[in-house]
Amino acid sequence: MKKVTLLLVLAMTGLCLKAQNIKLPEPQREGGESILKTIAIRQSDRSFKDGDISLNDLSTILWAGFGYSHGEKRTAPTAMNRQDITLYVFMEKGIYLYNAKENTLELIKKGDYRKDTDRPNGFAGKVTNIAIVSDLEKFDVEKDHHRAFTFAAMSAAYVSENMYLAADGMKKNLGTVTRYAAHQEKEVAEILDLGKYQRILLFQTIGYKK
Ligand SMILES: Cc1cc2nc3c(=O)[nH]c(=O)nc-3n(C[C@H](O)[C@H](O)[C@H](O)COP(=O)(O)O)c2cc1C
Repeated sequence: MKKVTLLLVLAMTGLCLKAQNIKLPEPQREGGESILKTIAIRQSDRSFKDGDISLNDLSTILWAGFGYSHGEKRTAPTAMNRQDITLYVFMEKGIYLYNAKENTLELIKKGDYRKDTDRPNGFAGKVTNIAIVSDLEKFDVEKDHHRAFTFAAMSAAYVSENMYLAADGMKKNLGTVTRYAAHQEKEVAEILDLGKYQRILLFQTIGYKK
């Protein structure tokens, strides 16, 4: 009987979380500045208006970062096409996992954890942050950790650069900066309940420029 009650509670919790998932608007796949002009104006920004970016803009940023481009192809390359990257979005309402296939945000945890991605009094606590996470198990990590970590870091860098280009090229007054995640990695990995070989490489901070 106890087992049945427990299963029911777990099922209800799952349903509740599912009900709080977010369907993202379609990403913007055209327009904005030309790719060459965008490369010319790309820069890091660290001064933002308080508040998360809109779901429209977020959808485009996530798609540019690691969405599906055509068929099973992703918008960023990965070594041996292992597609090792997962994106977690930290917003005021909660932390969400980007489901690129469904174009949805899946609620992982309710609450504002944005400041946990930065040092105390850092600039990232009141805007959207995206944790770029690699699953090193996709690269036979037990056999060669150095190789797996190198590939993971490279995947993360491509994803980050795509998000820079989307943010700077969309003409939406978006600013962004990539941040080395190591200082906050342990704490944030616990919040996200990551596995042993899931590593947070970078945080992409995105907001509207002041
Ligand atoms: C791997 C990596 C880690 C970075 N970490 C941080 C960081 O922790 N905090 C930060 O404010 N900027 C960080 N940056 C952004 C750099 O400081 C920035 O790219 C550099 O100063 C050049 O400026 P630009 O991006 O405007 O060309 C990082 C950049 C890279 C590539």
